[in-house]
Amino acid sequence: MASYLERVHELPVLPQVVPGEIRAALPASAPDEPEPFSAILDDLDAVLLPGLTHSQSPRWFAYFAITGSEPGILAELLIAGLNQLGILWRTSPALQELEEVTLDWLAQLFGLPAGVHGHIEDTASTSTLVALAAARAARPGARVVVCSEHAHSSVDKAAKLLELELRKVPVDDEFRLRPDLLDLDGVCAAIATIGTTSSTSVDPVETMAKRCEQEGVWFHVDAAYAGAAAVCPELRHHFTGWERADSIVVNPHKWLGVPIDCSTLWTQRPEVFRDTFSLVPEYLRVDEEVGSLSEYTQVLGRRFRALKLWAVLRCYGRSGLEARIREHVRLAALFEAWVRDDDRWEVVAPRHFSLVCFRLRASDEENERLLERVNASGEVYLSHTKLAGAYALRLAIGNFRTTEDDVRLAWDVLNREAVRA
Ligand SMILES: Cc1ncc(COP(=O)(O)O)c(C=O)c1O
Repeated sequence: MASYLERVHELPVLPQVVPGEIRAALPASAPDEPEPFSAILDDLDAVLLPGLTHSQSPRWFAYFAITGSEPGILAELLIAGLNQLGILWRTSPALQELEEVTLDWLAQLFGLPAGVHGHIEDTASTSTLVALAAARAARPGARVVVCSEHAHSSVDKAAKLLELELRKVPVDDEFRLRPDLLDLDGVCAAIATIGTTSSTSVDPVETMAKRCEQEGVWFHVDAAYAGAAAVCPELRHHFTGWERADSIVVNPHKWLGVPIDCSTLWTQRPEVFRDTFSLVPEYLRVDEEVGSLSEYTQVLGRRFRALKLWAVLRCYGRSGLEARIREHVRLAALFEAWVRDDDRWEVVAPRHFSLVCFRLRASDEENERLLERVNASGEVYLSHTKLAGAYALRLAIGNFRTTEDDVRLAWDVLNREAVRA
């Protein structure tokens, strides 16, 4: 892993394989006899490596860039080795209490209110599903969820699974939910996104919080990507009002250096989560007074994910995390300035964090073909979205190894390929 991380920037970020190629290179059934681990490492290099898309590359700028940091990687090995089973406090007191402590630490770093109750889920999709299940239970009879048309698809999925009607509110010209169109009649939950997936727009959190309080509606904040930015005082203004939310999700596996998977979910109403999810069968009944974190969610067995979050928070410290996020925002601002200074290109959404949405001043088809050429080069990897009906390129900075040279390379590759149009 150490040598991989040293040379990952040299590998094509997007693999140059065709569908089925990796599968065809693998045996159709498991071996009858044991094989040495060295054979697995050999096949990892020979067969699997050509089919990996390198999220650890500093030149990954697609979707949201992520990092499995060194402390996180080492902790992940310890997690597997210790193999703790978090079903009850007694099956791993350290797992549960470390999770409580690290979530308190992170809540403090983000400026969330003291005493907020947190636990870890695998992904933001699960966190939002669990939060909406609690919201549904808190307001029996109200069967509607509202969010902006730019909310993440995990909200659509959660509403579908919970058999709730999803009402999407139109956005303004900066892709923020329009509060003047927010109707909370019959609504059990309203969702604000801080850092939407397409453009990192920020919904009017404080206004929505007030409306939800007035009308007794559960207020959920999805800050899966952008939440990490709350460690920086100069970015905190984007979060005003989130401290009033009933539930908040942030993914430390997105912009905080924790390897996938680690999604943190806080609530000011833990008793609703417990009423919704607690179900203790006979074989799990114990004398202890202490509850278990599995009573606050849908899964029973919990991984020791807190260990990797703890390792990252300790090895970087507040100052280290702040410095990395600040640097990513600086690099995104720099890239944005290059785009703005060149008449052939345009910026197509306000930049709040470390994502720049831009396009060539040309047709959608030309932008699409440009992105294909850029990604086919293997030098960098970017993704796209549609904003106000138009094709937009997205350059997301979030890998701890990304430097100004990597961002400059992305700009050079884009300009080189744009000329070939
Ligand atoms: C704003 C937002 N919410 C939720 C998600 C879903 O995250 P996960 O893959 O952890 O379920 C994403 C993914 O990018 C996101 O951007």
